[in-house]
Amino acid sequence: MATLFSSTAAWPIFSIILLALTSMASQADARAFFVFGDSLVDNGNNNYLITSARADSPPYGIDYPSHRPTGRFSNGLNIPDIISEQMGMEPTLPYLSPLLRGESLLVGANFASAGVGILNDTGIQFLNIIRIGVQLEYFEQYQTRVDGLIGSEQTQALVNQALVLITLGGNDFVNNYYLVPFSARSRQFSLPDFVQYLISEYRKVLRKLYDLGARRVLVTGTGPLGCVPAELAQRSRTGECAVELMRAAGLFNPQLTEMLSNLNNEIGADVFIAANTYEMHMDFVSNPQAYGFITSKIACCGQGPYNGIGLCTPLSNLCPNRDVYAFWDPFHPSERANRIIVQQILTGDNKYMSPMNLSTIVALDSRT
Ligand SMILES: *[C@@H]1O[C@H](CO)[C@@H](O)[C@H](O)[C@H]1NC(C)=O
Ligand SMILES: *[C@@H]1O[C@H](CO)[C@@H](O)[C@H](O)[C@H]1NC(C)=O
Repeated sequence: MATLFSSTAAWPIFSIILLALTSMASQADARAFFVFGDSLVDNGNNNYLITSARADSPPYGIDYPSHRPTGRFSNGLNIPDIISEQMGMEPTLPYLSPLLRGESLLVGANFASAGVGILNDTGIQFLNIIRIGVQLEYFEQYQTRVDGLIGSEQTQALVNQALVLITLGGNDFVNNYYLVPFSARSRQFSLPDFVQYLISEYRKVLRKLYDLGARRVLVTGTGPLGCVPAELAQRSRTGECAVELMRAAGLFNPQLTEMLSNLNNEIGADVFIAANTYEMHMDFVSNPQAYGFITSKIACCGQGPYNGIGLCTPLSNLCPNRDVYAFWDPFHPSERANRIIVQQILTGDNKYMSPMNLSTIVALDSRT
């Protein structure tokens, strides 16, 4: 060893290692970010899977910096991208990306997969998707990999200090309970009982996330499910938001907030933060002009009434200016709408964020 370190030939290698270690340490100082959930937050995992739930062809990504599809269900950035941007963090990579290795692991990872729900039987029509239980297994696997890089103590600290975002629930209604008339779940449960069952299963998922080390978790509710262009096209005669889906969101969201508050009481800390994405959407859905949108009913990309039928494909109608549409495709908000949502996550008052907003979290966590 002594000869190795005194040998001048070894010095360049030694300093490269030192440099690498220092830059790793500075990356570890930045807060890591972990993302779980469905297509609202998937940033490309489904590109690596055999599934029909994918956003890997144009015009998806038309306003992304590369102007290419990436697997994000957006014309440009999605909610986690904008959270990373606003907090000065590097964007996370999809967990299945081959680029996610070495130092880039320290930025965090995105485990989300379009089509999934709280329940395992949600999204079965999409075949191979990463159900939430497997997303959590991947999170464990991730931690083992980071252990090998920076040791278990530092890994624990990285995970405990990280910001986490989870978005689930919409698909349990749209792609399960209401997918077809007389679906198995709708024959098994009345809507209020189904919502209760979802909440009790979601509680287990979140408890597991806590057990895996998550300590600051933003949990979004469902948006106004009945107001998206797909539902206006399928279920609404007059352009009013579809009643049954609004009832579902109306039952689910308050019970979610209550469950999160109970979990926090049980844990004795404000681990879970409810983001009321329903209210955030309703602001621009009920008054699109006030937010600079020409419509909140018609999707930018799609076909049929409200551009709400089928998928957004290279053959679909495409609006020239995505910034004036609240919805990019029949189900997903445009980048501009996502920016409005993230702004509320950051600075919204108690109507939008409980028990506090992300700016408050950042201020609290930087003091400890
Ligand atoms: C979903 O599947 C996973 C893995 O197969 C299993 O551990 C879990 O209990 C299932 N969840 C429900 C609610 O059945
Ligand atoms: C949210 O963030 C802003 C800072 O941008 C702060 O002034 C406000 O009090 C916060 N609201 C709540 C309810 O935490």
